[in-house]
Amino acid sequence: MNPRSLSVPCTGRQLWRSAALSAAVLALFLSPSIFGVPSATAEVQAPVASRSAAPWWKQAVVYEIYPRSFQDSNGDGIGDLNGITSRLGYLQGLGVDAIWIAPMYPSPQVDFGYDISNYEAVDPQYGTLADMDRLIAEGKKLHVRIVLDMVLNHTSDKHQWFIEASSSRTDPKHDWYVWNDGIAADAPGVTDYQKRFEHDGRVPPNNWVSGFGGSAWEWVPAVHQFYYHEFYKQQPDLNWRNPAVEKAMFGAMQFWLDRGVAGFRLDAIPNLFEDPLLHNNPELGGINAQGDPNVGDTYTNNLPEVHDVIRRMRAMVAKYPGDRVLIGETYLPNTAELDKWYGGAAHNELQLPMDMLIGFHGDHDKLDADSFRQHIEEVQTLVHGSQPLIVFDNHDNVRAIDRYGDGVHDDLINKTLATTLFTTKATALMYYGEELGMHTTTPTRREDVRDPIGITGWPKQKGRDGERTPMQWTAGPQAGFSTNPQTWLPIPPSYKTVNVAVESRDPNSELNWFKQLSALRRDLPALQSGAMTMLDTDNHSVLAYVRSTGSGASVVVAMNFTATPQTVTLNLSGTGITAHSVKTLAADDDSLKTVTTLDNITLPPFASWVGSVQ
Ligand code: GLC
Ligand code: CA
Repeated sequence: MNPRSLSVPCTGRQLWRSAALSAAVLALFLSPSIFGVPSATAEVQAPVASRSAAPWWKQAVVYEIYPRSFQDSNGDGIGDLNGITSRLGYLQGLGVDAIWIAPMYPSPQVDFGYDISNYEAVDPQYGTLADMDRLIAEGKKLHVRIVLDMVLNHTSDKHQWFIEASSSRTDPKHDWYVWNDGIAADAPGVTDYQKRFEHDGRVPPNNWVSGFGGSAWEWVPAVHQFYYHEFYKQQPDLNWRNPAVEKAMFGAMQFWLDRGVAGFRLDAIPNLFEDPLLHNNPELGGINAQGDPNVGDTYTNNLPEVHDVIRRMRAMVAKYPGDRVLIGETYLPNTAELDKWYGGAAHNELQLPMDMLIGFHGDHDKLDADSFRQHIEEVQTLVHGSQPLIVFDNHDNVRAIDRYGDGVHDDLINKTLATTLFTTKATALMYYGEELGMHTTTPTRREDVRDPIGITGWPKQKGRDGERTPMQWTAGPQAGFSTNPQTWLPIPPSYKTVNVAVESRDPNSELNWFKQLSALRRDLPALQSGAMTMLDTDNHSVLAYVRSTGSGASVVVAMNFTATPQTVTLNLSGTGITAHSVKTLAADDDSLKTVTTLDNITLPPFASWVGSVQ
């Protein structure tokens, strides 16, 4: 039923698709920039003074914004770019170095922006190009860089390219997409499933299933052919075997790089290529929430050809000054596969492919010290010295606080995840609302669902609305998100207590914990670049490690991953660090604020302690 419960490597959309399934289970319970448009040679950002010379993204905190849900500035109930600009001060205060904005390009909004109909403009519901230029310019003043979401795998079916491509087989754009004549419905071996999608006596050529339900092949009568779509049928896949596609897409990226964006988050990037021989994907048995047979993705995901494109992309982006960055949405089965996305020893592909193995590692994500230790060690050691990017939350999955939470200590568990995120040797990627402990608020009635997979999958799959609810700023109307009572998704009832205003005033809040940790990370060389050594490695209940640059203060971190108190003695012998003086830098329990020795530290349930050792 759930790909993650099967003993097959799971990758890509499968992972969050199944996470959405778990959600069902969980549910039970100013004018254009005054600087003008930056030229291709404009510097993106001056580095923050307190930082070392390493590229900015190595020590960065990157914050994902779902633009519909962050801040509405014009009262239509939908977040927008001017809303984001108005909140840059908040982001700077949180220690955010860059924001990744989910797609804000013109779109029919079938997949809320992941179906793009024009790559070189802004959807009017989010603002204008001038608003984007202003966001980039204002961000620059506050050292908040702008990273855009780039959807290269597919366009909207309303994109001019597809309109032309699907008009005739001889149209010059026809070969920009993935077409197939299909096979005769009465050919030997055709399955009942294929027959479900019969048109004019033809059926899809194989068993490829869309991640969003139904066959991945859609019939177009005008050309008497099927086109391939990994996602919704309104998201036809581009044919990356055609060099014109690469040229057009790199051109779109350059359009934004020229305007001064700091880089891109590459959507569904392992999906660019499909098997040209159209082999069937492996049958896994059973039926998924959308009513389709469970199949693997051997022939539709993570094909080796993609790496040639990524190397050329890296070379293209590297021509721009200011350390522009490529971040990848890389759900992969293991760290060895992840390493390939960095370009292995050559370091010539993505700077930051996301490690989804720590934050989204299983069916029942739970705090497990052994598994965290193992995964964190792996991503530090098996990627040829590349920089890990750790992430626990995004717009496709039940929020981490709900996946990892136990329903009793959720706030402490959220703090523990934050401690892991900010103190390991990794770039940190977070999702709006994570810093507040916002929970997933899944719709309870099908008629309220907005995400199409939640409508077609109801009630087994309720979609992704729950993790996309409006940001909770205040205890006032619409949580300060909008002046309009009709917000695009409802404001969760928790907003009265879980919001920026209330949490800013509470020194023990989740928000202040995130702020404290990001400030430590910004200020302490050991946390910026220090090597990481695991401590007390046989301990199944406590995750502990030390970060050290070899000179100056080291930073020791200890987190209790259980609901019972744990006493630990952290032995630094063998690390070359001598601990004369120990003091607490941050602790989420008062009893830990006076720790002066690494012997017999008693960590209350789910407590985090961060100390300096000199
Ligand atoms: C990625 C996005 C997801 C989107 C899909 C298709 O997985 O994160 O939100 O639906 O790609 O673009
Ligand atoms: Ca708006």
